Amino acid sequence: MKKNKGFVLWFTGLPCSGKSTLAELLKPEFEKRGRLVDILDGDIVRTHLTKGLGFSKEDRDTNIRRIGFVAGLVARHGGIAITAAISPYRSIRDEIRGTVENFVEVFVNTPLETCIKRDVKGMYKKALAGEMKNFTGVDDPYEAPANPEITIETETETPEQSAARILAKLEQLGLIEPAHEPAYTPEEAEKIRARLEKLGYIEQ
Ligand code: ADX
Repeated sequence: MKKNKGFVLWFTGLPCSGKSTLAELLKPEFEKRGRLVDILDGDIVRTHLTKGLGFSKEDRDTNIRRIGFVAGLVARHGGIAITAAISPYRSIRDEIRGTVENFVEVFVNTPLETCIKRDVKGMYKKALAGEMKNFTGVDDPYEAPANPEITIETETETPEQSAARILAKLEQLGLIEPAHEPAYTPEEAEKIRARLEKLGYIEQ
């Protein structure tokens, strides 16, 4: 059996840019291909693996290094680690790139105005009102990747289209196999079977 190549699918982007949505959409696609998948989502990881860390540069770097470490283990064992954390600092993302196997960076390039409109948890509103400090995109930096493997423009495509583009890129990189859709519908398969049987090629 051909060994599956593990990899890290590293999403980066502003809060509410769509990282978690894409991660969740892709997970079943990989599972369909018989792969083992883990999602390391910033919001969730911060409740256990990186619990207690805040949002200073130092704490964010620690958060990202820990996520990178675990993602690296998953990839090393042939699995797929999908990370969905803001990961605002370019140098730390590049540091992780240098230490893990097959690092695929996906920049979710949603404009700030769109993220503010989405404001899933009302945090932009608080940050813009000055009730919350150091919120990424408002009064804390976000450094876009210089050379991501994939850039997603959520303004011009649906999440499904973005996911399809990511899958195509991963196929192109030789990291996943195309999904094997059955060549025939069950009805077509039955017709073919009956015909072959009639011709005496297969037994009943
Ligand atoms: S990261 O900067 O360290 O990569 P991470 O993705 O783990 O951030 O966490 C971001 C989540 O924490 C956001 O989705 C939001 O729910 C919450 N959050 C709380 N405070 C902040 C803040 N100051 N900046 C950004 N996100 C924050």
